[in-house]
Amino acid sequence: MAEPIRYHRRLQIKRWIHSLITSHQALLTLLWITAFTLIVLWQKNSIYRLAIFGRASPRPIPKLRPFAFNLTDFGGVGDGVTLNTEAFERAVAAISKLGKKGGGQLNVQAGLWLTAPFNLTSHMTLFLAENAVILGIDNEKYWPLMPPLPSYGYGRELPGPRYGSLIHGQNLKDIVITGNNGTINGQGQAWWKKRRQKLLKHTRGPLVQIMWSSDIYISDITLRDSPFWTLHPYDCKNVTIKNVTILAPVSDAPNTDGIDPDSCESMVIEDCYISVGDDGIAIKSGWDQYGIAYGRPSTNILIRNLVVRSTVSAGISIGSEMSGGISDITVENLHVWNSRRAVRIKTSAGRGGYVQNITYKNLTLDNVRVGIVIKTNYNEHPDEGYNPEALPVLKDISFTGIHGQGIRIPVRIYGSKEIPVRNVTFRDLMVGITYKKKHIFQCSFVEGRTIGRIFPRPCENLDQYDEQGKLIKRSTSQSQNTTDTDYDI
Ligand SMILES: *[C@@H]1O[C@H](CO)[C@@H](O)[C@H](O)[C@H]1NC(C)=O
Ligand SMILES: *[C@@H]1O[C@H](CO)[C@@H](O)[C@H](O)[C@H]1NC(C)=O
Ligand SMILES: *[C@@H]1O[C@H](CO)[C@@H](O)[C@H](O)[C@H]1NC(C)=O
Ligand SMILES: *[C@@H]1O[C@H](CO)[C@@H](O)[C@H](O)[C@H]1NC(C)=O
Ligand SMILES: *[C@@H]1O[C@H](CO)[C@@H](O)[C@H](O)[C@H]1NC(C)=O
Ligand SMILES: *[C@@H]1O[C@H](CO)[C@@H](O)[C@H](O)[C@H]1NC(C)=O
Ligand SMILES: *[C@@H]1O[C@H](CO)[C@@H](O)[C@H](O)[C@H]1NC(C)=O
Ligand SMILES: *[C@@H]1O[C@H](CO)[C@@H](O)[C@H](O)[C@H]1NC(C)=O
Ligand SMILES: *[C@@H]1O[C@H](CO)[C@@H](O)[C@H](O)[C@H]1NC(C)=O
Repeated sequence: MAEPIRYHRRLQIKRWIHSLITSHQALLTLLWITAFTLIVLWQKNSIYRLAIFGRASPRPIPKLRPFAFNLTDFGGVGDGVTLNTEAFERAVAAISKLGKKGGGQLNVQAGLWLTAPFNLTSHMTLFLAENAVILGIDNEKYWPLMPPLPSYGYGRELPGPRYGSLIHGQNLKDIVITGNNGTINGQGQAWWKKRRQKLLKHTRGPLVQIMWSSDIYISDITLRDSPFWTLHPYDCKNVTIKNVTILAPVSDAPNTDGIDPDSCESMVIEDCYISVGDDGIAIKSGWDQYGIAYGRPSTNILIRNLVVRSTVSAGISIGSEMSGGISDITVENLHVWNSRRAVRIKTSAGRGGYVQNITYKNLTLDNVRVGIVIKTNYNEHPDEGYNPEALPVLKDISFTGIHGQGIRIPVRIYGSKEIPVRNVTFRDLMVGITYKKKHIFQCSFVEGRTIGRIFPRPCENLDQYDEQGKLIKRSTSQSQNTTDTDYDI
């Protein structure tokens, strides 16, 4: 009996050694694959380097003011849980004393910095380091109420006061918000949900709102998931917004406009990427009788080199609140993709005011349902007190170099008998269409011209000139009033 047992043992040892060797082989192979993958990833992308080998050294924070502070100097804790409102307030109070000495810079370092709304001060730079995230607390109890904007009379979606913005400023001068692509995150999800469930008693607050201020520079940051409009400069002068990323879900994120220049003068918005749940940009100037009384236009605004996506509304809008007037706007080098509309002007009787001298140049439309829209019956009013006789004036609007593909309706300009659209120029419009019906270049109550190559065939309302400016076909006043359309989307 001893023999078979010894044999058996020997067999067991043999098996054990064998399995050891094969598992070793497996282990070696695994190690080899791991090492190889690591090298590939290492080479491929520094992000993987970060994930596998710990933090790469963060980009240095430049000193942009004579005095600089860290939020931690004021008791800030970037753990995503501690509320940092007081730290921000203490920092702002300290900086507010440095105005005469060139102002102060507040650095928000990498981390998650939860806060309730707070106010900025003049001569202040808010610097968001790489991987710094300011998180807006999503409990409305922490959001102070403010009076309605004078040019709106109302909180906009609900009457009475409205919530202020997460980051707010009033009557300031020389404000900079910049960084190494740090983020201000409004945690809008809770707000959007409450608004859908009709649980809110007041209009939601914007993410960043700066009012009655001048010399504002916002660059190199990301703004995301605002409860309401994302960036709202109100009655400001000299505002630059550059290289900013603005994000919100493209659906079910109601009213998350990207940027809303409102009664602002001298503004540049450039090199931005915007993908949001409402208009990418909406230029405004007050609402009906309140906006007419306030009487402050948006004027001299340049928007260029933008990539925008809006599946709910439009890439760039003007209106519908435009009662203080909107003029001297240039939009150029705009790329709108996978969107409902590319550019839109919207207004209605009751608004008063004007939209004039608007220039669009070099628009690329990729997979957009309606390219260019002018709509004059956007009948949304603050209350019954508006004056239906207050008719907006729409004129001197030009479109040059409109290209793209996947467009259903390239142009839809619906003026009306009361609000005709005057002096519209189309020069060089060539787009690929997805819908071959007769009237997809749609017009009513519009007067103007086309110059040069236009595809698809323009509506009868417009005079047609060739590239050399020679008249080819004149419209009849009869046709200017027709509603040249045979279906609706
Ligand atoms: C901010 O903190 C960093 C280290 O995290 C330090 O190097 C720097 O000196 C601090 N700056 C100020 C102004 O306190
Ligand atoms: C910001 O300042 C305005 C004007 O003084 C004030 O109404 C508002 O309550 C302040 N907001 C916060 C969060 O302190
Ligand atoms: C835009 O911002 C990013 C991220 O902060 C930065 O890396 C890049 O240099 C900026 N681009 C320009 C042109 O300033
Ligand atoms: C900035 O961060 C956002 C969001 O994290 C990202 O989508 C964007 O590409 C970044 N911008 C640059 C220039 O790195
Ligand atoms: C506009 O603001 C910038 C700072 O953002 C400032 O450097 C510039 O001097 C201002 N321009 C005018 C005309 O006030
Ligand atoms: C039209 O607006 C542009 C700026 O977009 C401005 O340069 C031009 O002077 C304005 N034209 C008139 C006639 O006001
Ligand atoms: C038109 O705009 C696109 C970006 O949307 C840009 O790449 C292109 O260079 C512009 N063309 C001209 C002629 O400026
Ligand atoms: C029509 O609008 C263009 C700008 O698009 C402007 O240059 C021209 O002067 C306007 N014509 C009239 C008659 O006002
Ligand atoms: C076209 O509209 C103008 C302005 O409303 C009006 O004066 C004219 O009689 C209308 N023409 C036709 C044919 O309806």
